[in-house]
Amino acid sequence: MNTLISSAEKRIDGHAKVTGLAQYAADFNQPNQAYAVVVGAAVGLGRVTAIDVQPVLELPGIVSVISHLNAPRLAYRPHKGFIDPAAGERLHVLQDDQVRFYGQPVAVVIANTLDDAERGALALRVSYDAQTPVVDPHDPRAIEILPEALGTRQADKSRGNALAAPVAGAVTVDAEYDISRENHTPIELHATVAHWQGEQLTLWSKSQFVVNEQAEIAAIFGLPPENVRVICPFVGGAFGTSLRTWPHVTLAAIAAKLIERPVKLVLSRRQSFHTTGHRPRTVQRISLSATPDGKLLSLVHEGTAETSRYEQHAEALTSATHYMYSCPSLRARYRLLPMDTSTPTHMRGPGEASGVFAIEAALDELAYALKIDPLELRRRNEPQIDEGSGLPFSSRSLLQCYDVGAKHFGWSQRQFAPRSMRDARLLVGWGMASAAYPVFFAPAEACARMLGDGMFEIETASSDMGPGTYTSMTQVAAHVLGVPMDHVKFRLGQSNYPPTPPHGGSMTMASVGSAVYAACQALQAEIASQLTSRPGSALSGMQPGELEWSEGRVRAREQDGPGLAYRDVVPLLGNEPVEVTAVGSRDTSVAQKFTMVAFGAVFVEVAVDPDVLTIQVRRMTGAYGAGHIVNPRLAKSQCTGGMIGGMGMALMESTVLDARDGRPVNAHMADYLVPVNLDIPAMDVHFIDEHDVHVNVLGVKGVGEIALVGVAPAIANAVFHATGKRIRHLPIRLESML
Ligand code: MOS
Repeated sequence: MNTLISSAEKRIDGHAKVTGLAQYAADFNQPNQAYAVVVGAAVGLGRVTAIDVQPVLELPGIVSVISHLNAPRLAYRPHKGFIDPAAGERLHVLQDDQVRFYGQPVAVVIANTLDDAERGALALRVSYDAQTPVVDPHDPRAIEILPEALGTRQADKSRGNALAAPVAGAVTVDAEYDISRENHTPIELHATVAHWQGEQLTLWSKSQFVVNEQAEIAAIFGLPPENVRVICPFVGGAFGTSLRTWPHVTLAAIAAKLIERPVKLVLSRRQSFHTTGHRPRTVQRISLSATPDGKLLSLVHEGTAETSRYEQHAEALTSATHYMYSCPSLRARYRLLPMDTSTPTHMRGPGEASGVFAIEAALDELAYALKIDPLELRRRNEPQIDEGSGLPFSSRSLLQCYDVGAKHFGWSQRQFAPRSMRDARLLVGWGMASAAYPVFFAPAEACARMLGDGMFEIETASSDMGPGTYTSMTQVAAHVLGVPMDHVKFRLGQSNYPPTPPHGGSMTMASVGSAVYAACQALQAEIASQLTSRPGSALSGMQPGELEWSEGRVRAREQDGPGLAYRDVVPLLGNEPVEVTAVGSRDTSVAQKFTMVAFGAVFVEVAVDPDVLTIQVRRMTGAYGAGHIVNPRLAKSQCTGGMIGGMGMALMESTVLDARDGRPVNAHMADYLVPVNLDIPAMDVHFIDEHDVHVNVLGVKGVGEIALVGVAPAIANAVFHATGKRIRHLPIRLESML
């Protein structure tokens, strides 16, 4: 299919982004705007005993200092958004003297300039009654709990009898894997500009989910949702950190209300390690047994993840375990460790990125215990159906991913034994892993409008955090409407546009794309019905279904005749733009008949210096079966970015907490390491030509999350192959190799 919905278009917003025309939250300004700076708790647990406000109020430019002592008591009406943890209650900011974690906002200093506000925040003296927080999962005071309200993807499940004694002759692996806490560190910092006009609040705010921010802030302030408007045309990366509405948004709104001026609040990089979510630290145990020829007999996956004391953030750590491989006996168990930290959140590939690491690292250990090529071992355990649910897959191209990835990488040239491949004095390692991520879908709405000049406008509340949503949605609309892309103006990022689900979970192309598709079709149907029922028009008397839209004209299908130019349609129909709103839905009964998952395979080459133990990733190959790819250029860019994120997870990223007070000690980009250009190897990305008619009208599975999944185990497995050293914690740093 060579159409606009399978075309490697360039980003339509690329020019705006590289020339500074694109406006991110902190780029917006309002007349008479003041600046707010958050003061975070300097202890990890306890209570605020005193705040010495007066010296700060005497500093130049200071407008106000807000703390729990003078903040308004907010309504905090119950509101559980799509994205909030099912159990627990969000942090009620500045509502009491309790300190629940290090960096929790305890005050806000507002000044006429940012400099003055920062100086005031630094000068504010806060006294505490402090206790020692529990921040380490290995702390004996950390008590595991069974999370409440788990979804089906998270709950404990079993089949067969995985806990039975291993059968005679079986080969077993039993290992524990520990993944560090990670923070998202997008380039764009969290920012909100809050502006009240009476009881109407406008927020220019970094968000992956503007309709939820609207609903949540309305609930917190006890307002009807229509009183709150959230605007977010561009997001400078987010990776999940802007799915929820964190306390700084509330603080900006409180500040603006109290001083009766617009207020801009931008979190510092350091503060973005405190209260805006993080990938939870996880500890997982995998126990495998297999026949000597590599057929899995049993699989036990036990995972524990940190959460806060006030909310239970649960992720699908053990979800992929059930369907990745064929295995008669399986048991998966998921527990949470509430600790004195802020609530974790989704971070790219949430759940699967961590859970699949443990499975894929353990499978590599099993391959070496069995002396079977790691890729061959996986091939021998390819299931026919989802053995967890008993349902067929809507499509599953994992074997093709293995073939395509292995071919491009050259896997057949691999020598099995660790330390057997060298490049001069460097130890070379080749590792691989499988990847999987579910196909999520939620109903979204879009509005489509035809204007008097024959141009079109599409509006939907989605965000675009970088995948290219502006571009891909314009492609879908232009494809359906039969016009060049520059005849469609696509708008997003406003809460007063038709609602969409979170811009996350790799579901935007599927969900919002289906809505745009449906809205454009509904617009055509509406115009067709008006045109055909209008006496005297060239198309009167026809059935709406007989009209076709292409090359800028509406005409009768299979009939000669000029039809009607798009620019003549609206003038003919009374000169008012024609507008419809439609929901992108899919048949839920079909969705219940299949397991819908995108699969992939990742191949990695590392070089380890045997003397100084540095690890260099030299190349990475990813092959993905992710359904229909609307824009191969953007999808490849997504995958490349995700794979680089996986490299960070494998080798660099770790938020280290000081055990004494829970302080993130490396809360800045000098010490929180992420891959930079010099670290990034040669990469190639391949998409399997996969046709899945069940997932949604576009056949799209999504590629945002899966691209990170599988990379960390492929790298860890490559490090083992290079060195013979099995490192079971992430990140794998030079010091892990000693
Ligand atoms: Mo993605 S973690 O759902 O932004």
